Amino acid sequence: MSTPPGTERAVAWPRVGVVGAGQLARMLAAAAVPLGVRLELLAEAEDASAAQVVPATRIGVPDKDALADLVERCDVVTFDHELVDPAVLDPLAAQGAPFAPSPAALRMAQDKAHQRAILEAAGAPVPAHRLADDVDAALAAAEHVGWPVVVKAPRGGYDGRGVATADDPEGLPDAWASIGGGPALIEQRVPLAAELAVLVARRRHHGETVVYPPTETVQQNGICTEVIAPARVPDEVAAHAGKVAALVAELVAADGICAVELFWTGEQVLINEVATRPHNSGHWTIEGATTSQFANHLRGVLGWPLGDPNVRAPASVTVNVLGPGDGSDPAAHRSDALTIGDAAVHLYGKTARAGRKVGHVTVCGPDAETARERAHRAAARLVGAREPRLARGGGDPATNDPQRPALDRSGGEQP
Ligand SMILES: Nc1ncnc2c1ncn2[C@@H]1O[C@H](COP(=O)(O)OP(=O)(O)O)[C@@H](O)[C@H]1O
Ligand SMILES: [Mg+2]
Repeated sequence: MSTPPGTERAVAWPRVGVVGAGQLARMLAAAAVPLGVRLELLAEAEDASAAQVVPATRIGVPDKDALADLVERCDVVTFDHELVDPAVLDPLAAQGAPFAPSPAALRMAQDKAHQRAILEAAGAPVPAHRLADDVDAALAAAEHVGWPVVVKAPRGGYDGRGVATADDPEGLPDAWASIGGGPALIEQRVPLAAELAVLVARRRHHGETVVYPPTETVQQNGICTEVIAPARVPDEVAAHAGKVAALVAELVAADGICAVELFWTGEQVLINEVATRPHNSGHWTIEGATTSQFANHLRGVLGWPLGDPNVRAPASVTVNVLGPGDGSDPAAHRSDALTIGDAAVHLYGKTARAGRKVGHVTVCGPDAETARERAHRAAARLVGAREPRLARGGGDPATNDPQRPALDRSGGEQP
């Protein structure tokens, strides 16, 4: 590795430890092959998505002993998810354990309230918000930021879990209860012309970064269903979003990939949240960018030169495949989807519980509409439908109103 002398040994064939074995680790494994990198996993279960494809997998929870063992076996240790207690990482990091991202960066990614506080202190643009400990404080906070509001659990949420909305004081107690009570972030529900995401890759020990073109993400019921790259926003908005994300990435200083979720209100770019790992909004980069987010995550955490983040096609669209409600397995329909020859089909090896992300399809094409149509068609086939239901990108699929993104909490599942 290209590291300052004495900090870590240079290794021609490095081993990268990964805490967690979901689909991100599985796609990281695919990117590791051409780079000559070996992965060592700490998996939650033997049949976890990445555990199925990485022979060097140990099963266990990420406690002190398991992490020390992983550090011992590897040249650098990275993460498939944020659900690791930084207090367990701290003593190991103090002894020189090479965690990438650092425990400090993980702390910021894990806690939306902590994250908002750091971003706000740095003058970064975020929605108006307050932290509330109980429902009375939440009411006062909502009056302060203005109705309607979004109520968020600071920790442990994903795919819209831990997020609820309240239009008025009558609706607040239900929203408060649905996320399990406080402390919670109460924030202004901003109008959404589009949701954007920008990936930034950072090179360990060097601090260099590359910024991917902004993508547009479509959420339904709080879960990302579609990603369109590059985002269909004016050039100056895309350029501004890239600058905001680069500033955030600088603050977070997470080695490897950092994903910055943004709101475009039609007037302003605001920061929603930050993840310090490869992200669903970047799966299109596998086929659609010169260097995938997974390759750049490995290059970044290993301190290697980063690859070109730019697009290889005018438009790339990823459609997520969620477990259908009828309990059928999308893998059983694989051949049907593969008849769409320009669709890249990804299946994660996960049990298809209703609403759970079990795969995705990416199509690169001459324009966003063509790529969307092809990607939706292939994704529909995976869930046994002949024709796609092609909602307009963005906004509430029920009302097709981009000003009112759906935040219904029904139908989710564990990752
Ligand atoms: N302040 C807000 N205003 C409008 N919509 C919001 C706001 N906060 C969250 N949302 C909507 O809820 C979705 C999920 O919220 P987020 O905080 O990103 O949670 P998660 O951790 O589940 O991704 C967002 O992608 C967006 O569609
Ligand atoms: Mg989010």
